[in-house]
Order: sequence, then C-alpha cells, then structure tokens
Amino acid sequence: MPSERPRMMSGMKASGALHLGNWMGALSNWVRLQQDYDCFFMVADWHALTTGYHHTSDLPRRISAMVVDWLAAGLDPERAVIFVQSSVPLHAELSLLLGMVTPLGWLERVPSYKEILRELEQRDIHTYGFLGYPVLQSADILLYRASAVPVGQDQVPHVEMTREVARRFNGLYGPVLTEPDALLTESKVLPGLDGRKMSKSYGNTISLGESNQETVAKIRSMVTDPARVRRHDPGHPEICPVFGLHRVFSADSRVSNIETGCRAGTLGCVDCKAELASTLTAVLEPIRSARQSWVDHPERVDEILEQGARRAQEAGRHTMEAVRDAMHLTRVRTPDAI
Ligand code: TRP
Ligand code: SF4
Repeated sequence: MPSERPRMMSGMKASGALHLGNWMGALSNWVRLQQDYDCFFMVADWHALTTGYHHTSDLPRRISAMVVDWLAAGLDPERAVIFVQSSVPLHAELSLLLGMVTPLGWLERVPSYKEILRELEQRDIHTYGFLGYPVLQSADILLYRASAVPVGQDQVPHVEMTREVARRFNGLYGPVLTEPDALLTESKVLPGLDGRKMSKSYGNTISLGESNQETVAKIRSMVTDPARVRRHDPGHPEICPVFGLHRVFSADSRVSNIETGCRAGTLGCVDCKAELASTLTAVLEPIRSARQSWVDHPERVDEILEQGARRAQEAGRHTMEAVRDAMHLTRVRTPDAI
C-alpha cells in the first residue's frame, strides 16, 4: 500500500444494512477518497453498544450487512483497510489512557450528548460508556495518526474534541499524537419517502440491498402534493417528496422540466414517479448486482475483515508503543494481542 499518501480514518456505528441516505452522505464520498488517501474504514461495533448494550445478539449480522454494503458500493480491500473496531483491542487501551486526560466537562458539553440522552430517554443510557463515546472515537482516530477524518456535520464536534484530546496529551507527555482535521462531506441531506430526512428510525428509507421491485413499489406509494386531486390540477413541487428526490438524482434539465410540468398541471404524478423510480434503480443497479456476489460468498467478507484487522493492528501498534513510552508505561512489556 503506497504510504506517501495522506492518511484518513473514518467509521460508522454498526447499524446493519445501509440506505441511500448513508450512501449519499458518507459512503459514496469514501469510495472517492480511496484514490487520494491511505484509507482506514472501521465498523464501530463498540460504539453501537453505547446506545444498544441491551441487545447484542444481532451484532454479528449487523456488522456483516454493513460491510457487504460497503464492498458493494465500491470500498476496495486492495486499497483500503476495512476492519471491525473490536478486532483491534488497541482501541480500548488507547481509549482508557485518553480517558485519564479528558475532563468530564468536555464530554458533557458535546452537543449530541444531551440530545441523544433526551431522545433515547427510555433506553437508560446514563452510562459511563455512553458519556465516553467521544473518547473512544478519539482513540479510533488517533491510533492511526490520521490527518483527515471524513464526516458529516453532526460529527464535527467529535473531531474537534479529538484535536483537543491530542493537544492535551501532547502537552503532558510530548508530541506523539497527530491532530486530525475534519474533512467535511458536502452535506446534502437526503429526503426520505415522506420528505423528512431519510433515516432508519423514521422508516422512510430506500435501502441499498432491497430489490428494484421494492424500490418501485415504495415510490409508487409515496404521498405527493395533496392539491393534485385530478391529473391536471396545478401542483407545488416544493412540498412534494418525489420532487425532493428528483432534485438530488435527476439531471438539472429534467428537474426544471418536472418543476414546470407539475406547476402547469401537465405532468401527472404517476409519470413523475415512474421517472424517479427508473432514475433511482439505475443509480442503485450496479451496487445491487455487486452486492449479490458478496452475499453469496460470506467467507470472502470474513477474510477481508481478518486481513483488515491484521493491517489495522500493525498500523496501530506503532502509535501505542510511542504512547506507552511517552507515559512511562513500558517497564513491564506485554505482548500485543495479535
Ligand atoms: N461516531 C461515528 C458515527 O456515529 C462513528 C465513528 C466511530 C467514527 N469512530 C469513528 C467516525 C472515528 C469517524 C472516525 O457514525
Ligand atoms: Fe410531486 Fe411530481 Fe406529482 Fe408534482 S408531478 S406533485 S413533483 S409527484
């Protein structure tokens, strides 16, 4: 792997199969970044436990489903290191040590902390693990001395905190850790089938792995502008979720034709939806057919993750040795786990 390229590291919480919003918001960007960066892509299974420690039985399934979608979308195990967080225990060691120097106030002030506590009130996540989420994320990033972390807007505070933790560590023990920069994904929030942000929790998604027929059926049953009772009633595309998706996926010239046709009442919703369905299935078709070959060969997916774990471990080992040395934790040497 050519290592003159700058290094980037990113991850996703192990949440299972991905949808079009995940692809637009992160995955398609990761695929592109493989050309210019030395890439580390991590399935954050420990992070999934911070909010989901009650139900762990389907974690293995969620991890595989996510990795299959990654590979189908074009993450390339020849060029990038693809691995699962818990297969590299060094993350835990670094997280523990960073925890020693991270003030509680920093954690309590992370904007998502109180927000998610409130949102998931019924789940009882008043835990040490959930509060420590950003420390673990800092460890993920700093372990690989990544200079860039491609993330959406919502993750920027976590990368900011990673910088502060690194600075504090370096101030106390010497310059060991690299302060990373967030590489902001131009964030087009993708509207879902109901016009709200596409999200699993709203049940308004088009998943990468569903069949083309399922996608077509979902689009056909989308609610459009209620003013369009009859075929020739003038419509208001700005309030229609079908138009919201056209805007993201259809060519600019088509978007303006659709807008005009809808307002004039010359374009019917049935036709408008049929066009959206064929545009989306064309976008998704290559992913879906690549996906099938990974689904058929789960052993290859396992091999990729094993190789990824070895490479990640090897890359992280050097940082951890420097960290232990800097903190004078090297009097008794322990062998590394792998
Ligand atoms: N917190 C990220 C998310 O919710 C997942 C994540 C874990 C991550 N570790 C990371 C992202 C390191 C970037 C870098 O999706
Ligand atoms: Fe929506 Fe298209 Fe119907 Fe207009 S024509 S209301 S944009 S589905």
